[in-house]
Amino acid sequence: FEKIPLNLKVNNKPFSLKVEPRVTLLDLLREQLRLTGTKKGCDHGQCGACTVHVDGVRVNSCLSLAVMNEGKSITTIEGLANGDVLHPMQAAFIKHDGFQCGYCTPGQIMSAVACIREGHANSKEEIREYMSGNICRCGAYPNIIDAIQEVKE
Ligand code: FES
Repeated sequence: FEKIPLNLKVNNKPFSLKVEPRVTLLDLLREQLRLTGTKKGCDHGQCGACTVHVDGVRVNSCLSLAVMNEGKSITTIEGLANGDVLHPMQAAFIKHDGFQCGYCTPGQIMSAVACIREGHANSKEEIREYMSGNICRCGAYPNIIDAIQEVKE
């Protein structure tokens, strides 16, 4: 495949890259940019482990071709903390034990931040509905909801 030029920002840093058109945003982040915080679970839009923000909107990065993100601004789990200071959602996940194995956690946290930002954190039911695309096989759901509710308050 011929590589296509791609200019985008990741965690506020500009990148000028050359990318094969078949490469997903997820693989670009993990393999080309070595940002391995974003996880690959299913690679076909069913688990939410690969969730990132594209221009502030949550996206399953396994379903987005990298070249579709020309000029976009991507935020990954690595871009949430402010230096050594955790994002409030990261701190709340730790406080409430919002994970066990941790594999789904980056995606859960990116969705959780979007949940509040988009105004879908007004009740446990609403949070559960918004977060339903993020699968946790350890079953940390109640603690994840507690974490989101605390940050919302
Ligand atoms: Fe993208 Fe599962 S890896 S949704």
